[in-house]
Amino acid sequence: MIRICPSVLNAEQDRLKEEIDRVKGAADFIHLDIMDDRFVPNFTYDESRTREIVRSSSLPIDLHLMVEDADHWGPRYAAMKNDGVFSVTVHFEATKELDTTLRGIGEHGVRRGVALKPKTPAEVLIPHLESIDMVLVMTVEPGFGGQSFMAEMMPKVSKIRSALLELGRESCWLQVDGGIALSTIEEAADAGADTFVAGSAVYRSEDPKAMVDELRKRAELGRK
Ligand code: DX5
Ligand code: ZN
Repeated sequence: MIRICPSVLNAEQDRLKEEIDRVKGAADFIHLDIMDDRFVPNFTYDESRTREIVRSSSLPIDLHLMVEDADHWGPRYAAMKNDGVFSVTVHFEATKELDTTLRGIGEHGVRRGVALKPKTPAEVLIPHLESIDMVLVMTVEPGFGGQSFMAEMMPKVSKIRSALLELGRESCWLQVDGGIALSTIEEAADAGADTFVAGSAVYRSEDPKAMVDELRKRAELGRK
């Protein structure tokens, strides 16, 4: 099964509700990027603005936390479950107590995601895979939309896919984020990804909804 999660990072920020509605009926989730200007050199939304966006969204929210002290913020954002948060992804590099943090997120009934920056190897997650619901392999350096896809991350995706198969963890999703477009999604799917974030590909196209459908079709080709 393929999931497409448009990122609204580069959508029109003063009319996010309408921007989200443009992909309704085609997208599975909205991917919302939280940046603190510390973990990455960019800032997006604070906690209260995030809650407003989540509440106003007509689609469930996949939260990607690019913030320091993820042990504190992960469970805290997961508490927005009833506002519409479906999953919370913390960066491996921003946690000190990953297992405790994942438990804290899971206690809210939210899916537990862990993201890896390009330089972080797949191996660090192997001991934790039993308690992870989604692995996010970054295919750009986190911080900005519109960057080029790093094809050199595909061996990392394949490695995680193999580990999940070995462990019988088919319920764990494998997401890629960064530079996903019609020209790259098939390769990522072929390497083993099943969940795709696409920011500029969707919101810079004239028909975002049709683009989501196209991306899904391409990804299905890669999964075969
Ligand atoms: C980048 C963010 C991405 C971003 C992707 O750090 O995590 O979610 O929105 O944008 P594109 O698809 O344009 O690379
Ligand atoms: Zn993201």
